[in-house]
Amino acid sequence: MMNYPSPTRSAQESQVTCYRFPSGFLWGAATSSHQVEGNNVANDWWEFEQAGRLPYRSGEACRHWDLYEQDFELARSLGHNAHRFSIEWSRVEPAEGRWSEEAIAHYRAVVAALLRRGIEPVVTLHHFTHPAWFARRGGWLGRDAAASFARYAERMAAELPGVRYWLTLNEPTVWTRLAYMVGEWPPCVRGAWPKAVRVLWSQARAHVVAYQALHASAPAARVGLAHNVPCIQPCDPRRRRDRLAARARDLLLNDAFLYIIGALPAGGRRGGRHLDFLGINYYTRSVVRGGTRGRALVLGDECTAGHHPDHGPLSDIGFEVYPAGLLAVLQKFSTLRRPLLVTENGIATTDEALRTVFVHEHLVALGEAVRRGLDVIGYLYWSLIDNFEWALGTTPRYGLTAVDYRTQARVPRPAAELYARVCRSHELVDPPGPL
Ligand code: FCB
Repeated sequence: MMNYPSPTRSAQESQVTCYRFPSGFLWGAATSSHQVEGNNVANDWWEFEQAGRLPYRSGEACRHWDLYEQDFELARSLGHNAHRFSIEWSRVEPAEGRWSEEAIAHYRAVVAALLRRGIEPVVTLHHFTHPAWFARRGGWLGRDAAASFARYAERMAAELPGVRYWLTLNEPTVWTRLAYMVGEWPPCVRGAWPKAVRVLWSQARAHVVAYQALHASAPAARVGLAHNVPCIQPCDPRRRRDRLAARARDLLLNDAFLYIIGALPAGGRRGGRHLDFLGINYYTRSVVRGGTRGRALVLGDECTAGHHPDHGPLSDIGFEVYPAGLLAVLQKFSTLRRPLLVTENGIATTDEALRTVFVHEHLVALGEAVRRGLDVIGYLYWSLIDNFEWALGTTPRYGLTAVDYRTQARVPRPAAELYARVCRSHELVDPPGPL
C-alpha cells in the first residue's frame, strides 16, 4: 500500500468493499486536438512553436487525425462507453467566416466512429488553442470574441447532431493564468493582472453565449465546461492565516468563474444558470500557507509539494497524489445541484505500479461519492494515450496507453486493464484482486 490517505479506509483495514455504479454511468478517457491530432498548422500554438517561442513542437503528435479509428477501437477494447475529444477550431474555421467542409466532414466521421462502437462522444469546443486569425485579432481581448465563439459553437452543434454532451471551454482559469500571468503559453504575456481579468470575463461571456447557441441549435444538448479544481487546503488548519489564504484561493481559482457565468448564486441572483452539468478536472491538492505581505497576504504561498505531514507520492511533474481530494471537490460542487462529470483525472508517471494505484484509489473516491448519493454521471481518465503535454513536450506520460513516437505504436499499460474491469462491470472491488 502506498503511503497516502485512502479516501475511505486506513492502510491496516483489510475489509473488502464493493462499489456499484449506475448502469448509464459514463466511463472513458479524454484527449484534446492539439495534443494528439498532429499538424494543427492554423492555430496560435503552432505559430508560436514554429517561431521558437515555445520549448517544444507538437509536429505529428500522436497522428490521431489519421489513426482515430484505431484509437477508438482501443478504447472500445478497454470497455470504454464514453470518450472526450476536442474539435480544433482552427481546422473547421481556418479563416474568419470560412468553414472547411473537409474538416467538418472529418469530425462527423469521428463522431460516427465513436457511436458505431457504442461510445458516447463528449465534445470540447475550446481546449487551449485558437485559430491564428482569432489570436491576431486580440484573442479573448479582441472585439466580438464571444460572438465568434458562439457562431462556431452553433455551427458545430448543427453539423454534429449525434453529440449530446458539449463542453464549451477547457480550464479557462488555468489557461488565463499560464497565458497572461505566468507567460508560458501563447500569447506568452507575463504578470498582466488587468488583462487576465478581462480575458476571464470575456471567456465567461463566451461560455454563456455559446451555451445559448448550442441550445438553440440542438435543444437536447447538455452543455457544461471543464473546470480545473485543485483541492485547496491550509498548510496548518490551526493557523487562521493559512485558513484564510486557502479560502481566498478557493474563491478565486475554483468559484469565481462559476459566479461570473451565473452557475453559483451571487448578488441576490439564483444560481444554477448556464450549466447543465459541470466537468471536473481533478489532479491534485494545493496546500497553502498564509503570507504576511503583498499578494501572499491575501492568497498565501503554495507550500512545496510534499510538505504536508500526510503527503502522498509525487508524479513525474511534481503533483502530489491525493485521491481524497477528488471526493472533497465532488462534495464541494454538489452544492451546485447540477450533475458532475469527471472530465479529467490522471497522472504523469513512468512508474506503472504508481499509475495503477492512482487509478484505483481515485476510483474508490468516485465510488464513495456515488455511494453518498452525489450526482456524478461519469469519469474520464486523462488520457487515453500519451500525448503532447503543452510546454512540457512529450516527456510526461499520462496515457492509459503508451505511445512510441517513432513508430506511433500503442501499447496499453497495466492501469488500462485495471480500469477496463470497472468500465465493463460498473463495479469496483477494493482492494482490487491481482491483474
Ligand atoms: C489539464 C489539461 C490537459 C492536460 C492535462 C495533463 O490541465 O486540460 O490538456 O494537459 O492537464
